[in-house]
Parts: sequence; C-alpha cells; structure tokens
Amino acid sequence: MRIIKFLLKYFRLIIFNEYRENQLSKYISEEIKNLHSNSKEIQILDFGSGMNPIVIQKICESIRLKYKNIKLKVDCFDFYSSEQVSNLNKKFSDFNFYHLKDFDSSKKKYDFAIILDVLHHVGIDKNRKEVLQIFSNLSKTSKYVIVKDHFYSSKLSKYLLIAMDFVGNYYNNVSIPSTYFTEGLYDEILKIKKLKEIKRLKNKYYYKRYWLFFANPSLHFISIFTNKN
Ligand SMILES: C[S@@+](CC[C@H](N)C(=O)[O-])C[C@H]1O[C@@H](n2cnc3c(N)ncnc32)[C@H](O)[C@@H]1O
Repeated sequence: MRIIKFLLKYFRLIIFNEYRENQLSKYISEEIKNLHSNSKEIQILDFGSGMNPIVIQKICESIRLKYKNIKLKVDCFDFYSSEQVSNLNKKFSDFNFYHLKDFDSSKKKYDFAIILDVLHHVGIDKNRKEVLQIFSNLSKTSKYVIVKDHFYSSKLSKYLLIAMDFVGNYYNNVSIPSTYFTEGLYDEILKIKKLKEIKRLKNKYYYKRYWLFFANPSLHFISIFTNKN
C-alpha cells in the first residue's frame, strides 16, 4: 500500500506539475480582484486547505501583483495534527493554520471563503447534512463564498472523477468519494439555503488538454455565492 501511495505521489507530481493549481488560482484570484471592495485589506478563509496549500499561495501572489501594499489575512482550516499546524505556521508565516474543530462560524468574518475540491470528499450522499452545514457556515462568515467542485452527468463521468480523485488524493489519505454533485442537486442546495449565486464558471481547463478524456472541463465548476439579498 505504501509503495502505491509513493508511486501515485510522484506520478502526480511529474504528470500534473502544479498545472491545476496554476489554473485554479488564476481563475479565483481574478474573481477576488473583481469583487473585493477594499484595496487595503482582504480577509480570506481557506476551508479544507490541504497539506500543501499551493493554491492559496498562488492566489495571494496574484493579488499582491496587482495591489502592491495590500494586507492579506488568510486563515486555513483542515484536519491538521498539532505538529502539522506548527510546521505549516512556520513554513507559511503569512497564513494562520488551524484544525477544523477550531472553526467557529459565529466568531470571525471574512471577505471571501474558498472551498476548493473539498465538498465531494465530505460526502455528498453519506454526509449530506454536513455538506449543507458547510454551505450555511461559510455564507454566515463570509461576504462571498467561492466553491470549486465537480458535476457529473452520467455513470461514466462519475467513474472518471473517482479515478482522477484516486490518482490525486489516495496518496494523501484523503477519502475517495463515491459520488459528486449533479448540477440539479447543486442548484437545489443553493435554493434550500437561500443563497444567491452571482457567477458560475464552467468548461474551464484545470488539466492539460491531452487529459481531456479523464479531466473533461465539463466535469468542473466554480460557483460564487453570497447570502446578501
Ligand atoms: C483534494 S484536497 C483539496 C485541498 C485544497 N483545497 C486544494 O484545492 O488544493 C481535499 C481536502 O478536503 C479536506 N476535507 C475532507 N473532509 C473535510 C471536511 N469535512 N471539512 C473540511 N475539509 C475536509 C481534506 O482533508 C483535504 O485536505
């Protein structure tokens, strides 16, 4: 098992080489730049930031390129051990890392919450209540919530996504999902939670074009919503 994880980790590194992270951070930083109202300070919550928070790093780099003296305050939450919290806080001194159990949606306010390729790992069928709670919590704490996730439309597309998740996440001990959102289910959740979607980006490339069969852009979306009326 350890050798499979080791091989997958390096296979992913060689084959994908931060292409997904570059694309994702490019799309999201553009949206943040367009939406933010204060060019002096932006507070960002990265929910499910992962063990190697490259996307948020690249987002911040891109924002700083445009606004030279901007203050970016970033809080990252995930299932970090206390050792990981301490190492990550040392390594990325601009960001604050916390275990998810310390997340309290009533305490802190953010301009943006980002939740990138996380919700399908929470469990769209098995842990639907938790998924719905995350929508409520993030929209309570943040002016804008930016979700990146997957839509499937057929059995084949679902199995392709599971295969991609296996290659991308199995080595990291992140649970492999058994299903994903359909576009209809995602719309229904926004409606139930009374959230106003202001933008949905579809058909964007997150992987090199020769991965088209496995990582078809139609399987990926970014959604930006707010609970402002
Ligand atoms: C595919 S990684 C994405 C990491 C990062 N957001 C990125 O885009 O590079 C999925 C992350 O979701 C986290 N996760 C899984 N279940 C979660 C939950 N219930 N609440 C918050 N994060 C969760 C995992 O620990 C993992 O770091």
